[in-house]
Amino acid sequence: MSETPAPPTGPDLSRGCELSEIPEGGSLLGHAHGEAVLLVRHGGEVSAVAAACTHYGGPLAEGLVVDGQVRCPWHHACFDVRTGEAIGPPALGPLRRWAVARRGSRVVVGQPLPPPAPRSSRSAVESVVIVGAGAAGNAAAETLRREGYAGPVALIGSEPDVPVDRPNLSKDYLAGTASEDWVPLRGRDFYPAHRIELVLGTRVVGLDPGARQVRLSDGTSRSYGALLLATGADPVKLTVPGGDRPHVHSLRSFADCRAIIARARDASRAVVVGASFIGLEVAAALRTRGLEVSVVAPEERPLERVLGAELGDLVRALHEEHGVRLHLGHTSRSVEDRAVVLDDGTSLPADLVVAGIGVRPAVALAEQAGLRLDRGVLVDAFLETSAPGVYAAGDLARWPDPHTGRPVRIEHWVVAERQGQVAARNILGAREPFRTVPFFWSQHYDVPIHYVGHAEGWDRLEVVGSIARRSCMVAYRSAGRITAVASIHRDRESLQAEALLERGDQAGLEALLASVGTHA
Ligand SMILES: Cc1cc2nc3c(=O)[nH]c(=O)nc-3n(C[C@H](O)[C@H](O)[C@H](O)COP(=O)(O)OP(=O)(O)OC[C@H]3O[C@@H](n4cnc5c(N)ncnc54)[C@H](O)[C@@H]3O)c2cc1C
Ligand code: FES
Repeated sequence: MSETPAPPTGPDLSRGCELSEIPEGGSLLGHAHGEAVLLVRHGGEVSAVAAACTHYGGPLAEGLVVDGQVRCPWHHACFDVRTGEAIGPPALGPLRRWAVARRGSRVVVGQPLPPPAPRSSRSAVESVVIVGAGAAGNAAAETLRREGYAGPVALIGSEPDVPVDRPNLSKDYLAGTASEDWVPLRGRDFYPAHRIELVLGTRVVGLDPGARQVRLSDGTSRSYGALLLATGADPVKLTVPGGDRPHVHSLRSFADCRAIIARARDASRAVVVGASFIGLEVAAALRTRGLEVSVVAPEERPLERVLGAELGDLVRALHEEHGVRLHLGHTSRSVEDRAVVLDDGTSLPADLVVAGIGVRPAVALAEQAGLRLDRGVLVDAFLETSAPGVYAAGDLARWPDPHTGRPVRIEHWVVAERQGQVAARNILGAREPFRTVPFFWSQHYDVPIHYVGHAEGWDRLEVVGSIARRSCMVAYRSAGRITAVASIHRDRESLQAEALLERGDQAGLEALLASVGTHA
């Protein structure tokens, strides 16, 4: 990841360019007033916005223009090109934008325009309490203010830190290649400046939907007009003998990550139990820190259940190339002081053990409050639970997915943030169904995996392009329909696949795959 602004390239747009140089529904990269600027042509209009994504600086010129939005090729953030607003996380901040003048056939970029003003809301909701200051909770609080909600907003989180960029905790920050200031989603000042009461280090321990009240771990109670449950998921603990020793860690919070880093400083050998996305990313990060790393997991191929055998083999090869010792087809039997003992008696030396064996949705509060559950908290299309005025979003919510026609619960960063946004708008009365096509990314050394759609299973898997050359797309089909597409170094095509899945355009998906196959 890089925060370095792209050096000015392309035409000087303050001097202008021909309209015909910008394709309709496309963009032209140039610069103006010393900054990289993207001119986007959409529906007869031309807009000028900053060319670098406000998430990690992704190159928007390599992204996709869809219905007046520009989408980032790195992690699929969406920006409204007219206002610059980040309407689809993971980006939270708006793009800078400039005035555009038309002089005959020429388009000229003028002075900077102010950021978009908040909308105005006439919501009668007295107050909003958000339980859980993570991806969904933070996005909901920001959205309430962006939509112009003027009432009290409390964001209550059990972690002591401001909401953090959780995906970074198993990637660059854990590897030691990103500094600490990359981790918070917002600075501490952001919350008071937006009149969001951030209550940290405090658990909500009771919920009474009838009385519209929550009880907090500090002994106080609060009333709410509407409530969002965004309590996420808890890591599954290692229950084998010795699984509670002090050198055994799991990774969910910033504090967990700091504890792993502190131990890694004095450790030379680590064992990761579980070849999950997080487990493998931790293995990669600890290799970057120079530790010897072993991974133990019962499956024969890592990530096969989610990505299929072909990408599972690639992931295995990548980790082996980087010196990770994989002990697949095995489980841990116990953890000793300086070793992990496997089911076949093998003893793996370990000064540090990290369990990456999955998470469970944090439903305790919902359960105690009598909300309807089904391996998560059940919500309707508007993300409202069985209790009126109580919404749920993120890792704990199971919602009716219009794309698969089934209730799904998904543990992805971008899904949680976008659900937080939609829940916030629905709290204000929008009645907006949640329709996002799920997206996640995972990073293994220099190989990013992008995944759009959702396939809990498939009856056919098709690879186009070349996995060996690390440029490919993998389509997952059920009853002939493509339900999900994974990709490596096919960022633009991943965005195209997402847009096609949104429209349910199977013919378009087939054509896209055919074009990748042709150009492999
Ligand atoms: C290390 C790591 C790396 C990841 N990498 C990726 C990735 O690369 N791509 C991807 O798509 N996804 C990734 N994920 C998954 C992603 O982070 C989650 O899907 C996302 O954070 C879910 O958001 P959420 O708001 O539901 O939960 P969270 O972000 O976990 O937030 C929930 C918050 O609620 C708090 N809480 C729980 N109970 C209470 C209570 N009773 N009272 C008050 N507060 C409470 C929790 O402490 C937590 O802070 C990763 C996750 C981890 C842990
Ligand atoms: S860099 Fe643009 S979405 Fe991450």
